[in-house]
Formats: sequence, C-alpha cells, structure tokens
Amino acid sequence: MTLTSEAGTAAVDTSRHLLAVSDLDRSQIDELLDLTDTFVEVGQRNIPKVPALRGRTVVSLFFEDSTRTRLSFDTAAKRLSADTMSFAVSASSVNKGESVRDTIETIEAMGIDAVIVRHRSSGVPAQIARWTNAAVVNAGDGWHQHPTQALLDAYTARSHLGDLEGRHVAIVGDVKHSRVARSNIEMFVALGARVTLVAPPTLLPPETGAWPIEVTHDIDHVLPSLDVCYLLRMQRERMDEALVPSIREYVARYGLTARRAEKLQDHALIMHPGPMNRGVEIASEVADRPTAVITEQVANGVAVRMAVLFLLLGSGRHRADPEPATDHEPESVTAPEAAT
Ligand code: CP
Repeated sequence: MTLTSEAGTAAVDTSRHLLAVSDLDRSQIDELLDLTDTFVEVGQRNIPKVPALRGRTVVSLFFEDSTRTRLSFDTAAKRLSADTMSFAVSASSVNKGESVRDTIETIEAMGIDAVIVRHRSSGVPAQIARWTNAAVVNAGDGWHQHPTQALLDAYTARSHLGDLEGRHVAIVGDVKHSRVARSNIEMFVALGARVTLVAPPTLLPPETGAWPIEVTHDIDHVLPSLDVCYLLRMQRERMDEALVPSIREYVARYGLTARRAEKLQDHALIMHPGPMNRGVEIASEVADRPTAVITEQVANGVAVRMAVLFLLLGSGRHRADPEPATDHEPESVTAPEAAT
C-alpha cells in the first residue's frame, strides 16, 4: 500500500535505501522492530556502543530544521561506531548556489556509505538515491514520508500494547501537511491496526477516500475506543492560507485537553512525533502524563535508527560485511549478527 505517488521511487533500488514505509513488507517491518529490541539493550549498557559499522561513514544532509531526527541518527551512527559527517545548510555552499546534485556528488567524493536526507520537497531523497552509490535514508521529505518516525512509533506502541492487530489508532490534527501521518497510516495498517483520522475537513487531503482508513470530525466520539491517540502538530509553516478559523477554535474542537483525555481508556497511549505545540494540539498537563509516551518515542528513535543503519550497511545487504570485531572493542553486538 502506498498513499502517495508524487514522490515515487521508480527506478530506485528500494532494497538499498529506506525512502518510504511502502519500501518495507510486513516481514521486513517485523525484522526491524525485533532488531530494535537488541539495540535498546545496547543503549542500556555502560558503554552503549558496538563495532558493527566501524569504517563506515554516515552523513546527515538536512536541508530543513530538525532536533530529534538529526541528533538521533547521529547518535545511532556513533553507537554503531560509524564515522559521521554533519551538513548544515546554513553554513554550506548551498548558500552560494550549489545544487543538491553537486552537493551530494561533492560529499560522495569524500567517501560515504549512507546519507540521511531531510528536505522540504517531496521526492528529494529518492532523487538523491539516483545520484549516489550510498544508501539513502529519508529523514522526512515535504508532506510525503518519514519512515523512521513510523518505525519508532510502531515500536513504541508495540512495546506497550503487544501485537497491534485490531488495535484502534486515531491520528488527530493536521493530516494534510503531515508526512508523519502518511507514514504512520501505512505502518499501522501494515501491522493490522484500525486507523481513524480526526481533523477538520480543511486539514485533510482530498485523497483520503482512497486510503484504508476511517475519517471523523468528532474527536469526542472516538476517544473512548482508542488504544493510541496520536496527535499531530499544526504545521503553520506549511500553510499558505488560514485553514482553521482560529487556534482557539481548533483547540476547542480538536485539542486533547485534560477533560477530553479523561475519556481515554486507562491503557490508551498518547503519542506525538514532536515538536509539540503545548496548549494547541495537546494540553501541557496531558503531555506530561505517564500514558503520554512522547519522550519514550524519542529514546526508541535511536535504537530504531541503529537497526535501520545496521540492516542497510552492516548486514551485508548493501555492501560487503565490515571487518569482524576485534577483541579490543568494549562489547560486541550479538543478536544483529544472528539476524543477518
Ligand atoms: N519528529 C521529528 O521529525 O522531529 P524533528 O523535526 O525534531 O526531527
């Protein structure tokens, strides 16, 4: 299943890259989530580092702002012992007019194995995948996809709820501008969950009729049946017109206020990809409840991204296996080798 076509991956070898959730079949999703367990355990060690990607170089190429995704990919690569390069557009020759293609070819000339790309335009990571021999991971492109966010969200939900088959997930808010919504719909549906979108008509894309989901404009109606209430940020930077009458009215009709949160079942998770607008899509006190697993999502993001980098670079699927670990390494990873 794929929800978008404008940023298609035609002529891209999706086994070498992670560009969209639709690049993954159910068994590959399960494999990534199972492998994440191992890297969560690595993160809990005194020295949270393994030699799996020693000698490999991972580049972060972020043309759009990020806190969580950029730092967690950087941490993931370092915990796998890869060398890292970070590219800040604001301090690069992009500001002198260098194109994306020339930028990637310049970086590739230095010797890289993976490039993590975020761009405000849909399809840029797929385009870069056509220009480079490195593995490309989409860290968010326009309204299109954010596959590692969907993986870390699925991992977090699964760690609390177990199998997601038949679970009810609501994705609430600005679906129209959200790559997270598109990725998470694909992910949760692939895992057997029932997905309901909750948003005003102006914040829903017109094509939702073709998606395997339900739609409602009444959040109060769905709250009691939810296992996951997934809130989206109002992406005001992507709106070129006023799509809600006012923030106050949006909060009144769609915000997860403390009163509304009382309607959720005790076990229901409150999730948000961040960054949050406290007091808009989520009340501040709701964001700080034990069932709000928002910082847990961030923590799991490091382990999920370790799993993604390991499978693309360290498992022999992309290039030759790295040198085996030598005994001067502090600790070696075991389960990922079993997973290759
Ligand atoms: N969730 C997410 O993508 O956050 P950042 O924009 O901070 O990376």
